Amino acid sequence: MKKRIAIIGSTGSIGTQALDILSNYPDYFEIKSLAAYQNIDALEEQIMMFSPAKVVVINEDRARELNTRLLPQNIEVRSGKDALIDLVTDNDIDVVLMAVVGIAGLEPTLAALRAGKNIALANKEVMVTGGHIVNRLAKQYGGSVIPVDSEHSAILQAIQGCKDLSEINKIILTASGGPFRGYDYHRLKEVTVENALKHPNWEMGHKITVDSATLMNKGLEVIEAKWLFNLDIDRIKVLIHPQSIIHSMVEFIDGSVMAQMGVPDMRLPILYALTYPNRFKTNLKSLDLLEVGSLTFEEPDNDSFPCLSLAYQAMKTGGTMPVVLNAANEVAVDLFLKRRLAFIDIPIIIEKAMNSHNIIDDPKIEDILAIDQEIRNSIYKKEGVL
Ligand SMILES: NC(=O)c1ccc[n+]([C@@H]2O[C@H](COP(=O)([O-])OP(=O)(O)OC[C@H]3O[C@@H](n4cnc5c(N)ncnc54)[C@H](OP(=O)(O)O)[C@@H]3O)[C@@H](O)[C@H]2O)c1
Repeated sequence: MKKRIAIIGSTGSIGTQALDILSNYPDYFEIKSLAAYQNIDALEEQIMMFSPAKVVVINEDRARELNTRLLPQNIEVRSGKDALIDLVTDNDIDVVLMAVVGIAGLEPTLAALRAGKNIALANKEVMVTGGHIVNRLAKQYGGSVIPVDSEHSAILQAIQGCKDLSEINKIILTASGGPFRGYDYHRLKEVTVENALKHPNWEMGHKITVDSATLMNKGLEVIEAKWLFNLDIDRIKVLIHPQSIIHSMVEFIDGSVMAQMGVPDMRLPILYALTYPNRFKTNLKSLDLLEVGSLTFEEPDNDSFPCLSLAYQAMKTGGTMPVVLNAANEVAVDLFLKRRLAFIDIPIIIEKAMNSHNIIDDPKIEDILAIDQEIRNSIYKKEGVL
């Protein structure tokens, strides 16, 4: 029987790459549902190509417009959060590929887990803000959470055959270092949005590309890894590896290190998340180590890129602190992209928000959403946007 897939965030970088790779396996996968925020041009093309049974566009006006365009096809496009929850909990879905950006993916992910769905998770902010609830619901309702992020996919691949996670000494997440690797504070003061959006190795959405430039992306991944692999945060290390060939490594208690390698192409970890624990043959470019030449490694520069340390600090503090880290980062990146903040202001905004927060331990979903909103409002207000 075909695996029936819902792709939430189908018009984004992960969503489009997922559709691209899955279209090679029509006998194994059926694209049952698609959802996006507002990009109805891209969505319309996807609908024509994959004929999904259900489509959601969060933005109401754009949903109405798409409905008008699709009248001859007799496909109903629904709009809003409730429609999205219906879509991810549908009986006809086996796997939800969560490829939304930001905390917006949290509620639909939790709803899908409550319905016992398996999740292929790209949306790392879900684990950062609600990892403890995700794990609880997955256990309670029997769903699984398989990572799409290349680093976490690498870890998952490296621990195949490891029967007991206590055999792991540490995991080492690799990071390219982004476009500003080697920059000091003075050079970072001058960087523009255009500079930040030029990632050396990956083509991604704007938010994650800026997160990669600040190293916050790696910080979010450290927190994501903590929840996915149930590891103490002190056993999760970060290493700069500019070539992005080793996607991450696991060191076991006997000193052996397993590294997963491959060309930097997200279609591979996306496919693995959907075929796990099996592998499918692909036509992706194979890795030529002679062409790569050398693999190099550096310590992350925590002075010039404080976001990584802020993420460790947030996770060590625990409770709602990672929610504050994430909300402040989402807002700061948004303001940077709108050219209302300098690049070097991003960590300053986040640190200020963290310093003035009173933590709630073991937060419920209502606490998480309330704090997320409170942080957003307060930063936008301070920066004169609200
Ligand atoms: N891109 C990568 O290579 C990569 C690698 C590893 C992990 N990730 C993670 O994957 C997630 C997605 O990243 P991306 O680069 O694919 O982002 P992206 O290109 O910005 O795409 C985001 C997608 O989410 C949709 N969306 C935004 N807000 C939404 C909402 N409230 N409800 C429903 N859909 C919404 C967007 O729709 P519209 O297009 O209509 O706005 C778009 O389809 C992020 O968490 C990122 O950290 C990405």
